[in-house]
Amino acid sequence: MKNTVRTFAEMKERGEKISMLTCYDYSTAKLQEKAGINAILVGDSLGNVMLGLPDTLSVTMEDMITFGHAVARGCHDTMVVIDMPFMSYQVSIEQAVTNAGRLMKEGRGNAVKLEGGAAVCPQIRAITDAGIPVMAHLGMTPQSVNSLGGNRVQGKNEEAAKQLIDDALAIEKAGAFSVVLECVPAKLAALITKKLTIPTIGIGGGAGCDGQILVYQDMLGLFSDYTPKFVKHFGEVGAAMEAAFAAYVKEVQAGTFPDDAHSFKIDDDVMERLY
Ligand code: KIV
Ligand code: NA
Repeated sequence: MKNTVRTFAEMKERGEKISMLTCYDYSTAKLQEKAGINAILVGDSLGNVMLGLPDTLSVTMEDMITFGHAVARGCHDTMVVIDMPFMSYQVSIEQAVTNAGRLMKEGRGNAVKLEGGAAVCPQIRAITDAGIPVMAHLGMTPQSVNSLGGNRVQGKNEEAAKQLIDDALAIEKAGAFSVVLECVPAKLAALITKKLTIPTIGIGGGAGCDGQILVYQDMLGLFSDYTPKFVKHFGEVGAAMEAAFAAYVKEVQAGTFPDDAHSFKIDDDVMERLY
């Protein structure tokens, strides 16, 4: 059955954990759906893991639409959330609604995600009013890496923690159906989870959140540029891929690939006439 905003609400009510992963392509989306994931985020982290950029700032609407659409085609029951890229919603409410609409119409998402608290509540309200579910994103918000002064844990002192709680309450009031808490101390994330009626999805937010999300290359051991503390490897797929690539190179060099089983035949009499 299709996972929707109602599934999210019902799962929180029942105390069932929500599982999310990022995804950026059709083949991987199909695997994640088979594994029973509730929702996929087509994250602007694609800037890092797919495009090799140092941060998410250069990711465009076109990027999000291309990768979003690819994922949506691989999903039937899985809810697809597509990130709004940097500067696609900050400038004006009108631009925010227009761009959220493009991610739904052209990207074929089921919801959008944007970063920020009270400052983006008018956008959250307007997009939600347009019939587009909004997932919020608080704590470490990578699009603000330049104002945050790096990727670091958020809400550690009393003032910052209070601010985070206020922002969480504000985005819920503005109509967000869920919120990602990234790099937030576990006890603070658990408190926010208690205070909110909408589900919290943690990434570096501890076990008290209503759900979890990881970047799939991180949890597969596929991305080695850097490894945040919250990343756990659930497989060593990077090593498996490297071994397979090396085996292929070896067989091509040795001339053992392709063999007859992987080549096409032509009738001998046709060949005779060609000589
Ligand atoms: O872009 C992304 O992958 C994200 C998750 C880390 C929540 O926003
Ligand atoms: Na993101």
